[in-house]
Amino acid sequence: MFDLIVKGGSLPDGRVADIGIKGGKITAVDQLGEAQAGQIIDATGDLVSPPFVDPHFHMDATLSYGLPRINASGTLLEGIGLWGELKQVMTHDEVVERALSYCDWAASMGLLAIRSHVDTCDDRLLGVEALLEVRDKVKDYIDLQLVAFPQDGFYRDPTARANTIRALDKGVDIVGGIPHFERTMADGAASVTELCEIAAVRGLQVDMHCDETDDPLSRHIETLANETQRLGLQGRVAGSHLTSMHSMDNYYVSKLLPLIAEAEVNVIPNPLINIVLQGRHDTFPKRRGLTRVKEMLAQGINVGWGQDCVLDPWYSLGTADMLDVAFMGLHVAQMTSPQEMRICFDMVTTHNAKTMGLPDYGLHVGAKASLVILDAGAPIEALRLRATRLHVIANGKVISQTPRPEATLTLAARPASVRRRHEAD
Ligand code: FE2
Repeated sequence: MFDLIVKGGSLPDGRVADIGIKGGKITAVDQLGEAQAGQIIDATGDLVSPPFVDPHFHMDATLSYGLPRINASGTLLEGIGLWGELKQVMTHDEVVERALSYCDWAASMGLLAIRSHVDTCDDRLLGVEALLEVRDKVKDYIDLQLVAFPQDGFYRDPTARANTIRALDKGVDIVGGIPHFERTMADGAASVTELCEIAAVRGLQVDMHCDETDDPLSRHIETLANETQRLGLQGRVAGSHLTSMHSMDNYYVSKLLPLIAEAEVNVIPNPLINIVLQGRHDTFPKRRGLTRVKEMLAQGINVGWGQDCVLDPWYSLGTADMLDVAFMGLHVAQMTSPQEMRICFDMVTTHNAKTMGLPDYGLHVGAKASLVILDAGAPIEALRLRATRLHVIANGKVISQTPRPEATLTLAARPASVRRRHEAD
């Protein structure tokens, strides 16, 4: 007797199987015949996937679009300045409310694991306190990891160093950084070294905004990979963005990629944001800014798409839909072969779960019973349609349902001229 059976769904690897759930865990992936359960969901013809995972987000800023004003230039730097204005006036309750609303959106999209950076350049640590509260409030349905992120520069901001360490003492999970925003390349490199040492001493993971510029000479990912090896942090470090790699010299990149692979640094490009923010100073040709995704995958580097922003100082759109994120990444990285499109789906599920180090993730016996049923037959179709999430199941419980969309064509939907011609027939 199961609590729940998801019957007859197609798994991402193409198998058709029933999934039996009991006590919040997957206890069978098989043909379960007439097995009994408290609830049975017929997923025949639908895709059953492990939940979507977003390894790069800013939950303290989300849903703040227009507060206190809109980013007129659309640049990263105006966004950072605008966020600095918002930080002065935002309140604890407002940040919690925005973050919880976003988590509702995420859950409805089958996005059940999120790594959010939280700004530590604030002597009150208001965002840190708010997101620690949110992490606890959503723990039954969303795995929320928090990264201590010195937005205004670990050295550049006079109190960032102390406040970042205070945030880690309060229970923030991961050490972040922003070396390209420090005043000099040397300061940036030194910040990478010190932040990795802090993580090594505390036994924490590292996730840095790294080389989020168009500067072909930015070298912070090299330092990050080197420090990862020196400190024995292999597999526990992520480099987010790496947009400058788009502009780097090809010979240099041929040395850099094996270093990233050896250090087992995970990579998180954020295509919706990279395509909007990078190349802003270019005339034409205008660079896309997205890092070298296919080339890193070919080296065996774990690369997964991140979302970064939804309705905030840096990005004026977004819906918490990781299929949207993968769809944009697929286009900008030109990953259009069937095999590459399939990998784009894995990038927002299994690849990102590896980056976040999620235990018990997947559709196997013993895994946490969190999954999503999509109105699509297979991963590529899910990407093409950004398919409806029919059922979202978290820890064995159905937490969201969306009706299967059915279009009904009526004469009223047609332009008047067409309608008149039809009626004259
Ligand atoms: Fe970010």
